[in-house]
Amino acid sequence: MKWGKGLLRPVWAAALATAALLVSAPAVAQTRFGPEEITQGHAQFDRTCAQCHGRNMVNSGTTVYDLRRFPIDDPDRFFTSVSNGKGNMPSFKEALTPEQMKLLWAYVGSRGGKEP
Ligand code: HEC
Repeated sequence: MKWGKGLLRPVWAAALATAALLVSAPAVAQTRFGPEEITQGHAQFDRTCAQCHGRNMVNSGTTVYDLRRFPIDDPDRFFTSVSNGKGNMPSFKEALTPEQMKLLWAYVGSRGGKEP
């Protein structure tokens, strides 16, 4: 069936392209935040986190974790640490709603609005 090859090739290419798109989509969704979320997250950060972590996340990183280095592909670690506290950081489970924590992640996970 030699004649069928030329016809099938574009179909395969389209199928592969679709598969690649489906595989990469979740990774993109994880690091993309809306500008509104980031702005609100920044405001929330100034109210509850900046006194320790520094304005715009800027601190020396010697005693308090430098959030500009937080792995942006690990939201689970962020939510766990903020909910339960870690070391000298208190738990924020009672103080913040899940919605507020998500906004904070938009701010921290986007490096303060500078998407990688
Ligand atoms: C009282 C001071 C203080 C406040 C307020 C504070 N933090 Fe922290 N935070 C720390 C310290 C100290 C560490 C380092 C903890 C350690 O590793 O021992 C830390 C670590 C972290 C880490 C890294 C944890 C990890 O997984 O290694 C994240 C993320 C974080 N803080 C987010 C926040 C957010 C978001 C807020 C605001 C809701 C906040 N922090 C408020 C003191 C604070």
